[in-house]
Amino acid sequence: RALPLIDSFGRRHNNLRISVTDRCNFRCTYCMPEDVTFLPQQHLMSFEEIARFAHIAAGRGVDKIRLTGGEPLLRRELHKLVAMLTSIPGIKEVGLTTNGLLLGEHASSLVEAGLRRLNVSLDTLDRDQFRRIARRDGLEKVLDGIERARVVGFGPIKVNAVAMKGSNEDQVVPLARYCRERGLELRFIEYMPLEAEETWQRGQVLTAAQLRDMLAEAGMPTQPIPRSDPSAPATDFEYTDGKGRLGIIASVSEPFCQSCNRIRLTAEGKLRNCLFALEEVDIKTPMRQGASDAEIASLIEGNVVDKWEGHQINSAGYVRPPRTMHTIGG
Ligand code: GTP
Ligand code: 5AD
Ligand code: SF4
Repeated sequence: RALPLIDSFGRRHNNLRISVTDRCNFRCTYCMPEDVTFLPQQHLMSFEEIARFAHIAAGRGVDKIRLTGGEPLLRRELHKLVAMLTSIPGIKEVGLTTNGLLLGEHASSLVEAGLRRLNVSLDTLDRDQFRRIARRDGLEKVLDGIERARVVGFGPIKVNAVAMKGSNEDQVVPLARYCRERGLELRFIEYMPLEAEETWQRGQVLTAAQLRDMLAEAGMPTQPIPRSDPSAPATDFEYTDGKGRLGIIASVSEPFCQSCNRIRLTAEGKLRNCLFALEEVDIKTPMRQGASDAEIASLIEGNVVDKWEGHQINSAGYVRPPRTMHTIGG
């Protein structure tokens, strides 16, 4: 029997994040530059290559997959990939993280293909602020996409908001209200140094403690509840009035690397054992040169064994990965 993917710190890796494209229809400042050269089509992993990789990973204990980008809905016929992945024996859940702009058009075909876990990025409800952060228009279309998704039958929908001081902090309370009214699970994400302009400053990070204080002052106090999944990035809270839940992804102020269960495949077929990894293992080239399933599996195992203890954002020697967020997928 094949061994599960356990690293030298005893962490078991069952969660695979697959970036299906580096392209995006927004240009969020915290994620990518305005001017960017995207990968040529032939450099992207094909659906067949992605499904083969997922199949091999499933044989080593991966049971959860999340599709990311860039913006994954820019990959044509993504629902076909979803169907290929949900039919792999051992894969229990396939999720998608999207910016929501094309969600209205694709929501039903995704549900039909078996997608249940949907996370939508939404940092602000203010149109001008949206244009400043995303460097594109689209707030109304994203909100319409979320409404469409709510009626077509996904599981619980999560809303991801990167919380940045001096940028969208005035949206913390409105976003909380908006999500509570609609039964959406809001998750604030601490801003991480993975943006293109290298302007990240610690002072811009709105921490979990500060976010909860802001909500409490606005009459929405929260209390901690046990994590729904011990290896999920978000710490969970519930509003004390019982009306809804809130997650906070405190990558900077309270790193959760010790419970990490994630590996990542980039759009061009490089395997990364950490969001902040400095090195990658090429999967696409050996695949295209005819490597066997066993050979691919040992590349995955080797990458997991090499995994470090965790990211170094909080140490003086933090070295940025040679990629920005849009080519990693979050
Ligand atoms: P589910 O738990 O399946 O709902 O998904 P998720 O929260 O893991 O995924 P999502 O794509 O919605 O990511 C939300 C935020 O968590 C993004 O900002 C990711 O970059 C961040 N995140 C996800 N995995 C990691 C990780 O391993 N390390 C760090 N530091 N951040 C992560
Ligand atoms: N810091 C924190 N979260 C980020 N995301 C993109 N860039 C950053 C960053 N620098 C988030 C997006 C999306 C998820 C995949 O990653 O908002 O919700
Ligand atoms: Fe695009 Fe998502 Fe990055 Fe924004 S966060 S630029 S929507 S990939």
